[in-house]
Amino acid sequence: MTDAESDWRFDEQLSGELQVSAGTHFTSVVVARYAARLLAPRPGMVVLDVGAGVGKFCITAAREVPDATFVGVEYRPHLVTVATELARRAALTNVRFIHADALELDWAPYDAFYLFNPFAEHLFDGALAVDLTITFNPERYVRYVDAVQRRLAAARPGTRVVSYHGFGGAPPEAYELADEGSLGTRELELWIKA
Ligand SMILES: C[S@@+](CC[C@H](N)C(=O)[O-])C[C@H]1O[C@@H](n2cnc3c(N)ncnc32)[C@H](O)[C@@H]1O
Repeated sequence: MTDAESDWRFDEQLSGELQVSAGTHFTSVVVARYAARLLAPRPGMVVLDVGAGVGKFCITAAREVPDATFVGVEYRPHLVTVATELARRAALTNVRFIHADALELDWAPYDAFYLFNPFAEHLFDGALAVDLTITFNPERYVRYVDAVQRRLAAARPGTRVVSYHGFGGAPPEAYELADEGSLGTRELELWIKA
C-alpha cells in the first residue's frame, strides 16, 4: 500500500468535514509509524499523545508497536468520541483516549510524549484550528508552552519526546536531540532526557 493509500484508509472513516482537516491537523501514517518506533523502543512503554485529535497518531502507533500502550488526551469531546470509536473498530487493546485538558492530566505515569504542535491554534485567532468550538487566546498558548516545559523538566531521566512541527518552545536543557531529519523531514525531532 502506498503512503497516500494508508492515509486514505484512515481518513475515509471520518466525516467529510474532518477529512478536509486531516491532511493539516492529523499526523500522516508514515510519520506516525516512524514516531511510534522512536517513542517506544522497549516493550511495555506508555506514550501520551498531547492533543490526540481523532486518534490518527495513537491508532496508527498502536498497530505499529503492539507491545507499547498509546494514550491520547484531547480537550474537544467530539474528537474523543470519534477516536474511541475508531480504536474500537480497529479492535486495538493498547490504545485509549481521555477527554481532558492535557495540562490537567498527571504526566508522571508516561515514559514518552508526542507533541504535534498542539497549541498553535491559540495564535492567529484560531486560523490554525481543527474547528471553532473553543475560545482561542494567545496568552493561553504561552501558558501551555510554559507548562509543557515545566512538566518535561520534572520528568524522569530517559523520558522520550517526539515533536512534529515543534510545540512552541524548546525542550528543557536536560534533553538531548537524539534524532532529527532521519525520516527526511527536519520537522520530526526526538529528544531524550539525560
Ligand atoms: C495538530 S492536532 C494533532 C492531533 C493528533 N496528535 C495527531 O497527530 O493526529 C492537535 C490537537 O490537539 C488538541 N489540543 C490542543 N490543545 C490541547 C490541550 N491543552 N489539551 C488537550 N487537547 C488539546 C486539539 O484539539 C487538536 O485536536
